[in-house]
Amino acid sequence: MKYYIGVDLGTSSVKLLLVSEQKEIVRSISRTYPIYYPKSGYSEQNPEDWWNAFLDGIKELLCGIPANEVRAIGVAGQMHGLVILDERDAVIRPAILWNDGRTEKETAYLNEVIGKNKLFAYTGNIAFAGFTAPKILWLRENEPKNFEKIKKIMLPKDYINYLLTGVHCTDYSDAAGMLLLDVKNKCWSKEMLDICGVSERQMPKLFESFERVGYIRKELADELGISRDTVVVAGAGDNAGAAIGTATVGEGKCNISLGTSGTVFVSSDSFSGDAAQAIHAFCHADGGYHLMGCILSAASCNQWFCDEILSTKDYKAEEMAVKAEKLGKNEVFFLPYLMGERSPINDVNATGLFIGLRPNTARADMYQAVLEGVAFAIKDNLEIIKAFGVDVKASCLCGGGAKSKLWREILANVLDIELNIPVTEQGPGYGCAILAMVGAGDLASVRDAAEQFFAIKETVSPDKALTALYADRYEKYRRIYPAVKNLYKNMK
Ligand code: XUL
Repeated sequence: MKYYIGVDLGTSSVKLLLVSEQKEIVRSISRTYPIYYPKSGYSEQNPEDWWNAFLDGIKELLCGIPANEVRAIGVAGQMHGLVILDERDAVIRPAILWNDGRTEKETAYLNEVIGKNKLFAYTGNIAFAGFTAPKILWLRENEPKNFEKIKKIMLPKDYINYLLTGVHCTDYSDAAGMLLLDVKNKCWSKEMLDICGVSERQMPKLFESFERVGYIRKELADELGISRDTVVVAGAGDNAGAAIGTATVGEGKCNISLGTSGTVFVSSDSFSGDAAQAIHAFCHADGGYHLMGCILSAASCNQWFCDEILSTKDYKAEEMAVKAEKLGKNEVFFLPYLMGERSPINDVNATGLFIGLRPNTARADMYQAVLEGVAFAIKDNLEIIKAFGVDVKASCLCGGGAKSKLWREILANVLDIELNIPVTEQGPGYGCAILAMVGAGDLASVRDAAEQFFAIKETVSPDKALTALYADRYEKYRRIYPAVKNLYKNMK
């Protein structure tokens, strides 16, 4: 039997899948690690924690498996995080993550002083606080000693690949989120590297996601008991990886992910983007491109509300308390901006907000508002993508939030599209196992394989009466942020 390992280096945990050549997930393991919020709006993790969790997880994953039958490994990871190594390959400081909002000043400098048109010409994108380039500018300004020490710059999953292979590499889908890549032409932007004061020598070598970057280091292969010929592919940003896992490949297909973040991802054969629109135009792991909108807090809003506010782990009970007749009629609204917001509003100062509370407001109304608020924020992004002329009638739905029946129903009706729930919700890991199969030479094409491997478990269809009610709710929701935007700025 041939086996492939697909990994998803997420924000709350690393998930590892062992996938057989018959497309079956034979085993899945996950390991958690801490996230640190050293100041309000900051978010960091230790790359060493990622590696230790990965190493521990892979050992259990391989337990009892004829390990020399493992052919290849593919890793997907949380995007945009800044990982920096010194000349001895030591991690200089904790990684600054995708949902960190410390770079307000640097983001404004890039968008307003350099200018969105120039940024768009150099990279195909504008600046968002979570992107990597503003983080490098922040480091240069605030931690000059650390900045001086930088020998290698990389993204979270590239750190795992570096320790696996010794090759300083990245893939186009993840590199696109750095705001240092000329996305259309798939090369580093000399202008952006100059603006950030870094050189191409510090940057990882670029690969397509399914390309082999090297083989597992000999000592590591021996330690794990796997073949020294085990291939490591470049892997992908987690959203591109999930898109492969949900067959969102080729032209005009959509995947929505409800993970810690929430994303709307539309695949495309050719590059398209527009400096005025606040969504991302990135490379895809299938060799093509995609448009993406990203909200910073999706399933994390549900987790926060249950864990921190309601002090419960019984999410199901909260879900069951929401009455069907209340759908589309909730008077409570929630802005899900717990970590500020990426797209489309690009506002690090935004915070979560409930509005519409009355003496008769029930716990279930507030819980419902949390799920609805996330769905409305996803709709904000879908509407912009549709304005690009993409006619989205259906989408795949993956990520932990997709497990909630209520949330699936709310989302299908708020977005007024069909949602296809895949048999496996392990999008990024499964997608990377497919990339590994291609990189090992065992499959010819990522797109064909993704389509062949994908199966739908259930389709959730919108209901005409409910979509009308939710269209009305959405119009009300849309008016909240503009009304409080200036207030947010002065609340710090
Ligand atoms: C995408 C993004 C998030 C992270 C989360 O732009 O920032 O989806 O990749 O893992």
